[in-house]
Amino acid sequence: MSIRHFLDIRDFSRDELLAILAEAKRRKQARAGKPKGMADDDAPLAGHSLAMIFEKPSTRTRFSFDIGMRQLGGETLVFNSGDMQIGRGESIPDTARVISRMVDSLMIRTFGHDRLLELAEHASIPVINGLTDLSHPCQIMADLQTLEEHRGTIEGQVIAWVGDCANVTHSWIEAATILGCPMRIGAPEGYQPEPDILEWAREHGGDVFVTTDPVEAVRGADCVMTDTWVSMHHGEDELKRRIADLSPYQVNAELMRHAKPDAIFMHCLPAHRGEEATDEVLDGPQSVIFDEAENRVHAQKAILLHCLRGL
Ligand code: CP
Ligand code: NVA
Repeated sequence: MSIRHFLDIRDFSRDELLAILAEAKRRKQARAGKPKGMADDDAPLAGHSLAMIFEKPSTRTRFSFDIGMRQLGGETLVFNSGDMQIGRGESIPDTARVISRMVDSLMIRTFGHDRLLELAEHASIPVINGLTDLSHPCQIMADLQTLEEHRGTIEGQVIAWVGDCANVTHSWIEAATILGCPMRIGAPEGYQPEPDILEWAREHGGDVFVTTDPVEAVRGADCVMTDTWVSMHHGEDELKRRIADLSPYQVNAELMRHAKPDAIFMHCLPAHRGEEATDEVLDGPQSVIFDEAENRVHAQKAILLHCLRGL
């Protein structure tokens, strides 16, 4: 049987994505009101372990995988790569083979996407993408869960993405294509999605429109999204230029007025308040950012169950 990795949204069919989301929803409902440290009644991953390697900082991904795995009855091991031999140049294939002998599953947050793919190629256990420079599929599962909770459905929801296009945008383009959401992206030249990903979306029937006009992107949207203007893989030297170029793409109350009156606002967090979005929007009635953060736990659990048990 092939190993069930979780590397990119595009590796999954519509039915597979919906099955993972349904499990996330069931798990969330089943433990309403329980202390967060208490295991789910069925503790389905008792005896299983998850190792996590972080080559970049993380709050949500680290906490949600850790508590999520514990709620499923499993064990977690969390490492910063700087404390590992991989941080001193041990090869990725050797690291993959060694860790595969010791734990049942592995999550990595890293830089180049090729590092993730190489790890998965040489691992004999499921590997989960906890974010690379190119994609962030776990985030998108939580976003989809949040979208469905607040809009009642996923298919047909018009998604507006404004500002810098990076890993989260790319995984969203893949999800929107597979699940039938028109996606409207407003970003300046040089900050737009990777051409390969737009090409993949076109080849797979995606309805993805890219404009340099933020108002055009947001007009009539069901959900408005943005992300930091300076991602973890961007250099400090890019900061000033990025802020100057992206300032016209700030999500503020005026821009939100162009979306549907009941549109929601999402942000994967961490937010740089006053840059890509104002406090008024982040803390306003349309914002669902903390539901989105909480749903990382529920979505992560469904991803772990997919990888370790199959859904
Ligand atoms: N959204 C997200 O992945 O957050 P962290 O970087 O805190 O994990
Ligand atoms: N685009 C952001 C996402 C953080 C969760 C980054 O890569 O820093």
